[in-house]
Amino acid sequence: MIRSNEVFISYLLIMLQASFISNIKLLNVRIANHTVLGSSTKLECTYDLEGENLYSVKWYKNGDEFFRYLPKSKPKIQVFEKQGIYIDIDKSNSNEVVLKSLELSSSGTYRCEVSAEAPSFQTVFQDRDMITVEGPQIAGLQHEYNVGDTVNANCTSTKMQFHAQLIWYINKEKANSTIVQGPYYKEHFTGSERLVTTVLGLSFNVTDGHYKSGEIYLKCTAQLASFYLHSDEKIVKFTKRPPTESIISNQVQQSNKVQENTSISVQNTPNIIHLACVLLFCLRNNRNVQVAY
Ligand SMILES: *[C@@H]1O[C@H](CO)[C@@H](O)[C@H](O)[C@H]1NC(C)=O
Ligand SMILES: *[C@@H]1O[C@H](CO)[C@@H](O)[C@H](O)[C@H]1NC(C)=O
Ligand SMILES: *[C@@H]1O[C@H](CO)[C@@H](O)[C@H](O)[C@H]1NC(C)=O
Ligand SMILES: *[C@@H]1O[C@H](CO)[C@@H](O)[C@H](O)[C@H]1NC(C)=O
Repeated sequence: MIRSNEVFISYLLIMLQASFISNIKLLNVRIANHTVLGSSTKLECTYDLEGENLYSVKWYKNGDEFFRYLPKSKPKIQVFEKQGIYIDIDKSNSNEVVLKSLELSSSGTYRCEVSAEAPSFQTVFQDRDMITVEGPQIAGLQHEYNVGDTVNANCTSTKMQFHAQLIWYINKEKANSTIVQGPYYKEHFTGSERLVTTVLGLSFNVTDGHYKSGEIYLKCTAQLASFYLHSDEKIVKFTKRPPTESIISNQVQQSNKVQENTSISVQNTPNIIHLACVLLFCLRNNRNVQVAY
């Protein structure tokens, strides 16, 4: 009896091994390396079941499951509460999960795990890291400027894993290095992690030339490393009316280009973040510029 059990177990193991030869494949897990605070991002998981039936797709963050898709269950989707994870269930399915309202605590290692039904119960998974960061912020502007006034502002990119490259633009042209101060770096240590805050100053005197189109447009972009992955743009229009804190519109546009490649063990491939912050100054008839934000 014992012997036949052993034979049976050996047989099972051989069958399992055999089944792994033609196993289901996790083709790719695509997650933006960097995402911006408050925005949304799509986690994608593509797989080839090689003729098997799907049993489950599960998503984990730092080892804790937060999303489960079971095609034979009702409802098909189950979510588990986790800090920094807010799922847009309507946009999530067996191949993608949309996270909204990202927080800094959304950063972590994400895993997509796909399992086939009995009898094989094969399971495959891949991990990807995501870091959620704050977009660059323009600060220090006054509410009003006249021709001859000096505009002083700072662009700050807070707590990135890498030194961000900040660039100022005035009316869509890159600011001359003679009116830019810095960059200045400040390091923060949280546990073993080193994070860097980068500040780039801007200081220039307002001239007639700045007003030729009736407004001054200031933009600051932040970029990391070598290839384009993410952009974030804020356009803030200031009233021409008395300078109170009224924002006419505050649009956030963003496009995510996620990692396109498929190698199974990719971790920390070259990172990039490209963020932009734009402030628009409007010129009054009397040449006063009203800035409110
Ligand atoms: C810009 O930052 C520097 C250093 O942090 C600070 O001394 C300066 O006052 C800031 N300027 C403005 C306009 O906020
Ligand atoms: C930057 O400003 C300096 C002094 O105003 C000027 O000589 C130089 O040509 C400017 N450079 C660019 C690239 O505009
Ligand atoms: C701006 O104007 C002030 C005087 O109002 C002057 O001292 C300063 O050098 C000017 N800055 C530039 C960059 O031209
Ligand atoms: C994936 O990487 C390979 C080389 O590692 C490259 O040839 C291929 O073009 C890449 N694919 C995409 C979609 O970037």
